[in-house]
This record gives sequence, C-alpha cells and structure tokens, in this order.
Amino acid sequence: MLSIIVAVASNNVIGKDNKLLWHLPEDLKRFKTLTTGHTIIMGRKTFEALGHVLPNRKHIVLTHNPDYKVDDENVEIVHSVSEIQKYVDDDNENFVIGGAIIYRMLMDYCQKMYVTRIAKSFEGDAFFPKIDEAKWKVVSREKGIKDENNTLDYEFIDYTRI
Ligand SMILES: NC(=O)c1ccc[n+]([C@@H]2O[C@H](COP(=O)([O-])OP(=O)(O)OC[C@H]3O[C@@H](n4cnc5c(N)ncnc54)[C@H](OP(=O)(O)O)[C@@H]3O)[C@@H](O)[C@H]2O)c1
Repeated sequence: MLSIIVAVASNNVIGKDNKLLWHLPEDLKRFKTLTTGHTIIMGRKTFEALGHVLPNRKHIVLTHNPDYKVDDENVEIVHSVSEIQKYVDDDNENFVIGGAIIYRMLMDYCQKMYVTRIAKSFEGDAFFPKIDEAKWKVVSREKGIKDENNTLDYEFIDYTRI
C-alpha cells in the first residue's frame, strides 16, 4: 500500500525554490519514526533537495531522464508510474514523500495520509493538492509540541481513504 507523508502550510504551500520553508524538528522526528525501515517514493527534485540518502530506507526516485544514475544500493531509479504499481499492491506500507508533482500523481493510489498542517501561510511555488473530503476522512488529530525549537503552531492530522 501507499501512504502520503507531507508537511503543508495553511495555504497548501509545501516548498519554494526546491527547499522547505520552515524548520520544525518535531515534524522531522515524526517523519523519521514513520518512514524508517520502509520504502520512500519521491520525485527527482525532492530527492535532490534531501541532499543525501536517508538511512534505513529504500529510496524510489522518479525521473524521465533515462541517464539519471545514483550510485547507492538503497536508491532505485524508475521512469514511470507503472513501476510504482508493485508498491501499491504490496502489503507493506510504502511512503510517498513528495514533491508537488508526485503527490498529485500518486494521491489516488494512496490509502492513508500523514499530514502536518502548519497554522500559517507561506509564499511558495510548490503546492499540495486540495484534500477532497468526499474521499478522505480524518482518523487522528494531534496538536504539535510548541517550544523554543518548534515555534510554529501545527497539527498532525492522519487521514484514511473513505
Ligand atoms: N513540505 C513537504 O512535506 C515536502 C515534501 C517533499 C517535497 N517538498 C517540496 O516540494 C518541492 C518539489 O516538488 P516538485 O513538484 O517541484 O518536484 P518533485 O515532485 O519532487 O519532482 C518532480 C520530478 O519528478 C519526475 N517525474 C514527475 N513525473 C514523472 C513521471 N510521470 N515519470 C517519471 N518521472 C517523473 C521529474 O523528474 P525529471 O525532471 O528528472 O524528469 C520531475 O521533474 C520542493 O520545494 C520541496 O522542498 C515539500
């Protein structure tokens, strides 16, 4: 199965100039807890934005470029959505980690979404699609810890497909 994991501003912005716009260590911690030991699926731009291969996770990177190569045993390069189908059919939970193009492309194949909703709007150029309430229901909602390192108001909202 596929699940989305994303951090979204109140105006649906998720990034700008191929970078994240906020620093929220509690959210990164949750990302690590949820995704460690799992396969993570992403677009080539998000992979490059990560800056390095994340430990203990298999990375699936989508690109149209047939010559794109990454010399790491934990990174697999794929060139079409059809190559993602085996992760859709898999009983394990595999995570779609972005960015905007990939969320839009794979949302209909996902069964769950782990959304960190930041209670502030940001100016950006990458957006998360609007969540269709006819297709998705909230199953858990938890206010995020606010402290000297996590200065924004935010909530962890989990959705499941109806
Ligand atoms: N807030 C969050 O949780 C979060 C999470 C992830 C990313 N982000 C942000 O999102 C932004 C990046 O998103 P983005 O939409 O620009 O890029 P992206 O979705 O990360 O990657 C897009 C790339 O994926 C490849 N691709 C797309 N469709 C494909 C297909 N059908 N088959 C094969 N390859 C395909 C293409 O790579 P090629 O150009 O190589 O062909 C395309 O340029 C950044 O600002 C990043 O910081 C935010």
